[in-house]
Amino acid sequence: MSSRLVLGIETSCDETGAAVMDETGLILGESLHSQKEVHLKTGGIIPTVAQRLHRENIGRVVQEAMERSGVTQSQLSAVATTVKPGLALSLGIGLDFSLNFVKLHQKPFIPIHHMEAHALTVRMLQPVVFPFLVLLVSGGHSLLALARGVDDFLLLGQTLDEAPGDTMDKVARRLSLIKHPKCSMISGGQAIELLAQDGDRLKFLFKPPMGVHYDCNFSFAGLRNQVTMSIQKKEKEEGVEQGTLLSCVNDIAAATQHTVASHIAKRTHRAILFCKAKGLLPSCNPTLVVSGGVASNQYIRKTLKIVTDTTGLHLLCPPSKFCTDNGVMIAWNGVERLREGKGILSHTEEVNYEPK
Ligand code: KG4
Ligand code: ZN
Repeated sequence: MSSRLVLGIETSCDETGAAVMDETGLILGESLHSQKEVHLKTGGIIPTVAQRLHRENIGRVVQEAMERSGVTQSQLSAVATTVKPGLALSLGIGLDFSLNFVKLHQKPFIPIHHMEAHALTVRMLQPVVFPFLVLLVSGGHSLLALARGVDDFLLLGQTLDEAPGDTMDKVARRLSLIKHPKCSMISGGQAIELLAQDGDRLKFLFKPPMGVHYDCNFSFAGLRNQVTMSIQKKEKEEGVEQGTLLSCVNDIAAATQHTVASHIAKRTHRAILFCKAKGLLPSCNPTLVVSGGVASNQYIRKTLKIVTDTTGLHLLCPPSKFCTDNGVMIAWNGVERLREGKGILSHTEEVNYEPK
């Protein structure tokens, strides 16, 4: 095995992930432990619970990825680990584990920015050249950036309050969709997408967020307030208890999804026009990469396709497996940095660790 080998470790939120990858991006072994079921039952992530589950699983997950790869610790060229952004308690588990590992085996350490890793994962799957536009939409993030290089990102906009996945999760929780026969054990965002298929979005008209903000930032908290108020009004009209509305749940889901989709599309459109006006995108095959859990929503993808078709951009959405958190995306970012010799620390160096 002549290629350099990287072990990637991810614990920034609620997935404990590890993967071993060679320099070409070939996944030699991976393992992923998801806490999502536990957090679905408690109605959201409790950081101390997430930390405990990471602590309980990190050793096994890394060992599995290593065993599946057939690579020994001594054969590794570096260990790459998410150091920010994320939940401090969750990040700490991956970081402590990795720092002990690199000290023990005397390997270089590559600190990884979780959002940069999401943005670059697409390059593991196909040759996308810099610069390209990235939209990241998940339960924790919502941002638009221009990826100009492995360690060079121009932030164009981000959420001023909450992320779109978080908003949909909260609406789903307010509607008690976890008890809905079609929606048990799926995320709030998935439940909204599923029910919206049978809903009429025009039955509820929510005001589009940030109508007069001439930038590329996002805001979803105002929409969530509007949806909550509509749910309350309907519950009152129908004389039912909180969280037991049945009649118009599909319509509320459809209107919520539509408003989220059109807000994301409008801000993305604005970012594309800005980049074009400033000559920041290549004239040949300019590309928009969309990633994060919310990117698996087909309605949102279709809405974005309209934007890219009308502006002449190529839309790339990696398969859902690569849109969500895992060790593979971290290993890939490690490979990209190793190839360019960027951000590689020796096992004795201090690591600056700040969760935000
Ligand atoms: O990227 P991810 O797995 O985890 C982080 O947030 O980091 O994204 C999870 C989020 C959740 O909020 C979930 O409700 C949302 O992505 N999501 C969706 C869909 N699938 C997952 N939102 C809308 N439509 C979907 N199909
Ligand atoms: Zn993520």
